[in-house]
Amino acid sequence: MGRISDDIIHAIRDRVEIVDLVARHVALRQVGRSFKGLCPFHTEKTPSFHVHPERQIFHCFGCDVGGDAFGFLMRQENLSFPEAVRALARECGIEVPEADGAAAGVAERLCEANRVAQELYRTALAGPGGAQARAYLAERGIEAEWVERFGIGLAPPRWDAVTRGLARARIPAEVGAQAGLLAERSGGDGGHYDRLRGRLVFPIRDVRGRIVGFGGRALEPDQEPKYLNTPESPLFRKREAFYGFPDALAPIRRNGRAVVVEGYFDLLALHRAGIEEALATCGTALTAEHARHLRRRTRDVVLVFDGDEAGERAVERALTVLLPEGLRVRAAALPAGEDPDSLLAREGPEALRQRVEQAPAALDRVMRRTLARGCATPWEKADAVAALVPLLAAIPDPVERGESMRRLALASDTRPEDVAAAVRREARPDARRAEPEPPTAPPRRAPGPETRFAVRLARLVIDHPVLGAGLDPGEVAELVPDPAWSQILPPLVEAARAGRLRVAELAEQLGGEAASLLLALAVGEEPALEAPEAERALAETLARLRERNHLTARRALTRQGAADPNLDAARFLEAKQRQLEERRAALGVRGRPVSGSP
Ligand code: UTP
Ligand code: MN
Repeated sequence: MGRISDDIIHAIRDRVEIVDLVARHVALRQVGRSFKGLCPFHTEKTPSFHVHPERQIFHCFGCDVGGDAFGFLMRQENLSFPEAVRALARECGIEVPEADGAAAGVAERLCEANRVAQELYRTALAGPGGAQARAYLAERGIEAEWVERFGIGLAPPRWDAVTRGLARARIPAEVGAQAGLLAERSGGDGGHYDRLRGRLVFPIRDVRGRIVGFGGRALEPDQEPKYLNTPESPLFRKREAFYGFPDALAPIRRNGRAVVVEGYFDLLALHRAGIEEALATCGTALTAEHARHLRRRTRDVVLVFDGDEAGERAVERALTVLLPEGLRVRAAALPAGEDPDSLLAREGPEALRQRVEQAPAALDRVMRRTLARGCATPWEKADAVAALVPLLAAIPDPVERGESMRRLALASDTRPEDVAAAVRREARPDARRAEPEPPTAPPRRAPGPETRFAVRLARLVIDHPVLGAGLDPGEVAELVPDPAWSQILPPLVEAARAGRLRVAELAEQLGGEAASLLLALAVGEEPALEAPEAERALAETLARLRERNHLTARRALTRQGAADPNLDAARFLEAKQRQLEERRAALGVRGRPVSGSP
């Protein structure tokens, strides 16, 4: 792949808003000058992941990763640097010349195939062959507006519609097959055929809005299976995919909750009822990966599953993955035999909205149902309590867990200490919940005064590059004894003098521990000092550093004098005197940081 020019990279960096990018994956809260949330790169319960909007950088104090928008995307989506650049370029409408089409990343090629297929499906639904499918949609109450908004299409009832469409777009059949659009003909002739045929198709997108797969609804009553999705692919990971994900991101942030359903039409139903923070799983049960995706973005989840036995079981199963993440889960109670889509059709949007708004805590519901199965004999009661204990033990918050245990004891008329004992037994051998709690960075030693001064100096230079430009990088290198900061500060000052201090770029050049120290400092939330105050602070910091520097030198000299009997006393005293003078000069005359400034 051809190298992408620095100009283009800078242009993208300037255009991309890192807070928006990160907010697709992490619920962020503003704290001072920066934003804070749960780190997407390691498991944690208290936020140590920071994003700084002015500096366009992120840093996690828990696992010590950080960087700019490209770095975030590379890590988040497992992309190479050029792939991340291209991804962001496309989002902000910057053209990156394709040096070699064939070398584009696998994900990019699969996306391209999906885009071509999507166009074909939409055209087919709108065309003369789409009449029956349009009638089907109309009958289910899906008006043209929704078809358009969700990009619903029709897979023509033919074996080669997509196969030919991809060929016309010069996309190899192998790529179509890898994307799951095509299947390989048996017989080993290398031929391919369309996987989805004669179905309504729902494009499934990832958080960035790329089409990763399709869900296909049968149009004929005897067509099996009722739903056929494109298979798992490098792009389409069903364990973490949600139908409706990109559209739900802003509403989830706005409303502070996610509403999860099980079907494509159910998701449409929620939107039609005005509930836009809706997500649907794509033919799988909720997984721990789904739960993590949810937790990063919100704390509250409402499940709206089918009102039948299967739906109840699905709620219970969902709790086993959602509770350990610390999510607060409600489950809407739908009338028997209804799903969100059929409820909307039967009772209208207001009824559906109410079911969602009034959804009771899911655990209470599961508890009531389980106990209702019978609690009359000691065996029944033991079974009922034993069925609920794993859910209780999965709740990370001790208060919430304790309260739930109290309620179970009350509802089942069991002694609280027996419930507590059962939960403890469940929790102890539990390796599942022995989460890899923060791979916490090795505890840093409490910084000594030199380090504190160096940190203060760096912060002042970052906050006030104009002041930093008045420093002498050579002197700074000498004054800062801390090995890491003596590596960071001089280039920082150089950058300030050159008038282009970009923290992310500097971190990239430094790499390693120096990079993470710099990012950790720059991402901080403390307000910057006002300019006059900053100037005073800079002068004082420099003076202190110079003072310490001389102190150290003098001690070394004293040690040397004591150790070296040949050093003649007069010369020794002379050297000491010189040092003292230098020190005074440093404290007084040279105490002004911005040399030559008025
Ligand atoms: P349901 O059987 O509840 O279907 O499956 P539904 O969503 O109500 O569908 P309509 O209203 O009849 O059109 C729920 C979800 O399970 C997956 C689909 O994602 C579906 O939306 N599913 C179902 C499959 O993947 N394959 C199937 O054969 C059936
Ligand atoms: Mn349905």
